[in-house]
Order: sequence, then structure tokens, then C-alpha cells
Amino acid sequence: MTDRHNTEQRVVHGAIDYGELARLGLHPSEVLDFSVNSNPYGPSPSVYEALAQVVLDRYPDRDCLQLRRAILEYELADVDLPASSLLCGNGSSELIWAVARAFLAPGKKAMIVAPTFGEYHAASLAVGATISEFRTEETQQFQPDLSELQARIVREQPAVVWLCNPNNPTGIWMEQEQLAQVFQTCSNVGICLIVDESYWRFVAPPVSCTAVALLQEAANEHLLVVRSLTKDFALASVRLGYIVGSPQRIKLVQRQLPSWNVNGLAQAAGVAALADRTHLATTLSALAVEREAFFAALQKAGLHVLPSHTHFCLIDVGDAQYVRQELLMRRLLVRDCSSFCLPHYIRVATRPAHEWRQLVQALREVVQS
Ligand SMILES: Cc1ncc(COP(=O)(O)O)c(C=O)c1O
Repeated sequence: MTDRHNTEQRVVHGAIDYGELARLGLHPSEVLDFSVNSNPYGPSPSVYEALAQVVLDRYPDRDCLQLRRAILEYELADVDLPASSLLCGNGSSELIWAVARAFLAPGKKAMIVAPTFGEYHAASLAVGATISEFRTEETQQFQPDLSELQARIVREQPAVVWLCNPNNPTGIWMEQEQLAQVFQTCSNVGICLIVDESYWRFVAPPVSCTAVALLQEAANEHLLVVRSLTKDFALASVRLGYIVGSPQRIKLVQRQLPSWNVNGLAQAAGVAALADRTHLATTLSALAVEREAFFAALQKAGLHVLPSHTHFCLIDVGDAQYVRQELLMRRLLVRDCSSFCLPHYIRVATRPAHEWRQLVQALREVVQS
């Protein structure tokens, strides 16, 4: 499907809409937010300490040296990559837009494995590229048909392929072997595969081998991996992400960014968060346990929950817009998936038990009434 949507439209996201809450007379602190897929246990306490030390009237390091060292050491320890293969951004969203500016232009095509995160579409359209959606099927529970995807890549030869793994909103995880096949096809036809691994730490059971491992192989010119630090490290407000690829490709992405794109608070927060491995491990393992209980309770309530490899999942509720509104009146926020062309579905992320129990109860009342 080729799409030339209106570029004026803003991308729809989950998370609190501050204007909407103000209209409803609600304060953000009154709402339980199941519509964002972040670590619900919050950031490491050491992040707050680090933030208090930041000298606000000094420019931050334009090259993010300390932060990049910490990422190489903690996030990319299994691969032997030079610092020049890594670039940081003001959230992974900024990097997605920079990638589009670097590798797309009018007359070029971007293929998007959909339904997925809306920024790939918006960023590609904004630079005048055409979009070709490879849409996974609801009847297949959104599992991509690999041979069909590979055939489409060969036939259409887009300039880039956007692939979110694990995917937002479906929670589908493409195994390393399958990913390697898609990468091989991209590499054979000489195009760039961009894998967004913003949720890789939430995959259950946990994975250690991801697209990053493929970067060490010969044809790594054809792969870029984007990751967010705002989800697993719970830093949504400070905005932080990174991209890994060949030094040549990374240089082209960097040219699309202004100097000092990662502010000093974000750099300090990132370094502190990455250093506290205990907080990350403890919170993510608690979340993995909670996820099982939450999903089981949703199913027990008779809701139609789709299988997911992450801590968020899709639920078929019939009329997502109505259900979202009803829940918001009860101070519970979920993601209406209409913008993914899935108007029957809401997406919900796991939160602590005393919170998800309220959501399950409300869903019982709203969906089955
Ligand atoms: C798949 C995916 N990639 C990237 C992002 C952007 O994350 P960041 O906060 O790092 O900009 C999101 C945020 O929702 C996302 O769902």
C-alpha cells in the first residue's frame, strides 16, 4: 500500500495529553497511565542525585563522551564496537527523524512493517519519501510472513526498511534467526534495515542476542539499530536514546542533528541510570512477574487478549475510543489503537498489582456492560 497521507497531521501517541486532562479537570498525578510502555517502577534513585549535581549554566558535552562510554560498557558489552559507531539523541524519536533526513528524500521509498510506531511514517513523509506499508495480519496475530516480506523488499527495493522489534503495539518479537534473514535480504539488495529495539529489555523471556549482534558482521553498512533509554530506565521526561551502526552511516545521521542535541541533564541521568544495574535488574524482574499475573487476570476477566512477548499487550474491546473515554473518567488511561488502524483494540502496559487490579475491574464493567 502506498501512502501519501497528510503531513500536517501529528503522530498520535499514548501517554498523558495534558490539554485533555485540563479540560476534564484532572491532574496528571490522579491518573494511572497504562498507555505508556515504560518501566512503571521509576528511575534509579541515583538519577535524582546526579541531576542535582548538574551545572545548569555550563554547556554539556557535545560528543556525550561519558554517556557513550557507559552505553558501550553496559548496553553493548557483548559486541566490540568503536565509540564512533554510536550516537546519542534527545530520545530515540529524534534519531528516527535524523535517520529519515539522512537516507530518505523525494523519490525514495520507505518500507514500514506495520502496524507500528507512528514516527517512522511521519519522519519518512516529512522528507518527501513515499511509504510502502507491509502490514501484518490480525488473522495471523500480527506475525509477519517472512517470505512475503523478503519478496516485497526484493521487488520494491525501498531505500530503507523500518522494523520495530519487539513491535509496538503488537508485542511481537522477531527471533534472531528470522531477523538475520530479513537483514540478509536487505544487505543483498543493498538497502538499509533500521531496527528499533526500544523495548528489547522488556522481552519475556529475556533475550541477550538482538540486532546489535548482526552489526559485527561483514555487511553492517546495511543495518542501523535504534534504542531508547526512556522506557527501561524510566527517563521519559529527560529524553534519551541512541543509535548504533557503521561509523560511516552514523556520521551521516550526526550531520542531521544540531550541536548539543542531548542536554546536560539527560547526559547525567543516563550515566547514573546505566551505572545502577541493580535497580534495572530488580525492577525488570519484578515487572516480568507482574506481567504474567496481569495478563492472566485480563484473560480470566473474559477479555480477548492477544499474545505478546512484552509487558504490554493488545486487547480487543470492540470500540477502543469509547472504552478509552470511559476508563479515563475512572482516571485510568489506556492507548486507543485507532491510529494504528486497529479501532477495536486498546493497548495496555503492565503496572504494579494494586494498579492493574483497578484496570481489570474497570474493564470488566466497561467492556462487558
Ligand atoms: C517503538 C518506539 N520507538 C521509539 C519511541 C520513542 O522513544 P523516546 O522516548 O526514546 O523518544 C517509542 C515511544 O513510544 C516507541 O514506542
